[in-house]
Amino acid sequence: MHLLKNRRILIGVTGGIAAYKTAQLIRDLRKLGADVRVIVTPFTRSFVGDMTFETLSGNRVSADWSEDPLAHINLARWAEVFLIAPCTVNTLSKIALGIGDTLLTTTVLAYDRTLLIAPAANTVMFRNPAVQENLRKLRERGILIIEPERGLLACEEEGEGRLADPERLKDWILWALHPKPLEGKRILLTCGATREYIDPVRFVSNESSGEMGFSLARVARWMGAQVKVIAGFTTAPEPPETDVVRVKTAEDMRRAVLEEFGNADVVIMNAAVADYRPLRTSDRKIKKGGKLILELEQTPDILAELGRKKKTQILVGFALESEELLKNARKKLKLKNLDMIVANPPEVMGAGHHKGYLITASGFEEFAFESKIESALFIMNRISKLTAS
Ligand code: CTP
Repeated sequence: MHLLKNRRILIGVTGGIAAYKTAQLIRDLRKLGADVRVIVTPFTRSFVGDMTFETLSGNRVSADWSEDPLAHINLARWAEVFLIAPCTVNTLSKIALGIGDTLLTTTVLAYDRTLLIAPAANTVMFRNPAVQENLRKLRERGILIIEPERGLLACEEEGEGRLADPERLKDWILWALHPKPLEGKRILLTCGATREYIDPVRFVSNESSGEMGFSLARVARWMGAQVKVIAGFTTAPEPPETDVVRVKTAEDMRRAVLEEFGNADVVIMNAAVADYRPLRTSDRKIKKGGKLILELEQTPDILAELGRKKKTQILVGFALESEELLKNARKKLKLKNLDMIVANPPEVMGAGHHKGYLITASGFEEFAFESKIESALFIMNRISKLTAS
């Protein structure tokens, strides 16, 4: 999966203990095919040696002008995106003031595309009014500050100031490099499985990791959309920087979706909604003994209801069919009044790869990808075309 093939990413690493996490980030970016260059400050070298960054990036580390008197200009021109992680409060304050006293800060002055800054500091240092004022200045200039996380800091204190997780940093780089055809669009997306309870600990449900839905949410964010996810039960990790609301049953999901429906431009129903629920739910754990017969009733069909209610919204559904995939999915497209349906065979469940058909009223396309994130890119691209037409 080469999502970042040949993309030119410049990483500035300043002297903080969190610098070791940036080594992992560089490894992850290279795995996605990116070309990565690293600038360090003199103090960075006290925490992580050049050899670590050189081995992981496959490029020489830049620290000063000894090898190229125009290093700041050449690096600034080369980079498509520039991330400083970790950024000490010292370096971020210097950037806010326009100071260029190291190769890193001078390159910032020579650079005019997307700059991402991920600060890391002790909580008191981070909260210092001078630092906060400088952060405000940077934000006002359009520099993107990747907020630090709360947690146990290297100084053994608990609080805000921990460098954003490498997964979050990677997601912001993908965001920065992606075109924004969905800017201003509000996307409501459901995913995961609902549970229909028999008693407090037993339920009827479906198989679903939520990975496809979460991948769609990530890609929609990279494309500039405002994304809200209503998720049932999932095992896949949640997408970073995304509003995820949790629900349990089909009825909970129905209510949550209807509440947001009026505000949405696009609704994607990826959830594996249980089709049946027990007619009665016991509020106590049922004791075993003899035969147990469950009577089930149908849950509300959320997507069909949206199809009846829709005004300007683009409605996208999913269909999992073990036979007559195309024929059955086409039927659902019509019956539920959808703009698009993604039809998948059952073998994609729990699998890394993904394949199926993307169907609209005017035709269909077959697709097959190595990963769900690549499928998500393909599907979201087609959805963005629908929003533009
Ligand atoms: N769906 C829904 N509410 C339900 C069941 C399904 O909104 N109670 C949505 C799913 O999220 C999916 C689409 O409808 O986008 C199709 O779901 P699927 O389970 O494939 O089909 P069903 O309509 O439930 O029909 P069947 O199970 O008989 O194939």
